[in-house]
Amino acid sequence: MDKKAILVTGGAGYIGSHVVKLLAKNDERIVILDNLSTGFEQAITAGTLVKGDTGDRELVSRLLEEHNVDTVMHFAAHTVVPESVSNPLKYYGNNTCNSRNLLECCQNAGIRHFIFSSTAAVYGTPANDVCTEDTPLHPINAYGTSKLMTEWMLRDLAAATDLRYIALRYFNVAGCDPEGDIGQSTPNATLLTKVACEAAVGKRPQVSIFGTDYPTKDGTGVRDYIHVLDLAHAHIVALEHLRNKGESDVLNCGYGHGYSVRELLDAVERANGAPLNIVEEARRPGDPPALIAAPDRIRKVLGWTAKYDDLDAIVSSALEWERKLARGEGYK
Ligand code: UD1
Repeated sequence: MDKKAILVTGGAGYIGSHVVKLLAKNDERIVILDNLSTGFEQAITAGTLVKGDTGDRELVSRLLEEHNVDTVMHFAAHTVVPESVSNPLKYYGNNTCNSRNLLECCQNAGIRHFIFSSTAAVYGTPANDVCTEDTPLHPINAYGTSKLMTEWMLRDLAAATDLRYIALRYFNVAGCDPEGDIGQSTPNATLLTKVACEAAVGKRPQVSIFGTDYPTKDGTGVRDYIHVLDLAHAHIVALEHLRNKGESDVLNCGYGHGYSVRELLDAVERANGAPLNIVEEARRPGDPPALIAAPDRIRKVLGWTAKYDDLDAIVSSALEWERKLARGEGYK
């Protein structure tokens, strides 16, 4: 019988494409389901691409069967937080309803392993800067709620069937593969590292600091920036865990320490060798002062360790990619 395959939804996106690259290095059989709404075909370095939606029940069921899939990694999602506030049903439709559809297809096909891209947005504005997985869950936008609802569906489905899952709560993912063939190409980006690198290469006139009066080390927001390769590696060890009959779990993905907006912008200036045009603005509504992962559980449960916990390395890789895009050498 054919080797079992892994279905990667959203494998043409920023994080999915980095995971696909690692899976290919491990000689896995990969099938990618992506509607290319925000992903790029050129980001796919391995596997078979099938263009389509996770909400397409017939297509998903056929893929699971035809490719002999036993594991699903589910990245496909809308991820722009402010947009989730102005258009919540778009987020519940894709991130929740389509995930439910995917899970139903998985249940029918007897899929045993599921790895889900969740988010630190499930914590909302926590009382403490450092979040453990037991920190109360109070998402403050539809993006966070739509992801949390999928966590709950997984929990309940796993209790009722043989499915086992790992949900990874991503903190602030940044950087790209230093080999330079894939990176973050999201149009109209809002994430700080991407925006700052775009400003560094002249794609934007300036970068704003949203709030300088937070109760943090320098008054600006503090986040736990995790290199996308360390995050991608977490998926690989989550897969090993499930294959070794490990139990379902929900795990934070971050380093356990944070950098302020100013520290991140300093790192971009260092990498670029030139000052940025920085504008100080009012706080962005809904932003917590600090959000840092307690990483103890993922270390214990998956034996995950970070290899790229270095702000300069994260920022340099992001800037290199942005320079490539500026030269017109990115995805088309
Ligand atoms: C991101 C994630 C969210 C996750 C969170 C974890 C996405 C879409 N969002 O949101 O799911 O819960 O990380 O911490 O993946 N900032 C500026 N100027 C800018 C942009 C941002 O000063 O132009 C500041 C923000 O106020 C914040 C920090 O930079 O303090 C990071 O913001 P951003 O990169 O937008 O990520 P989060 O909002 O933290």
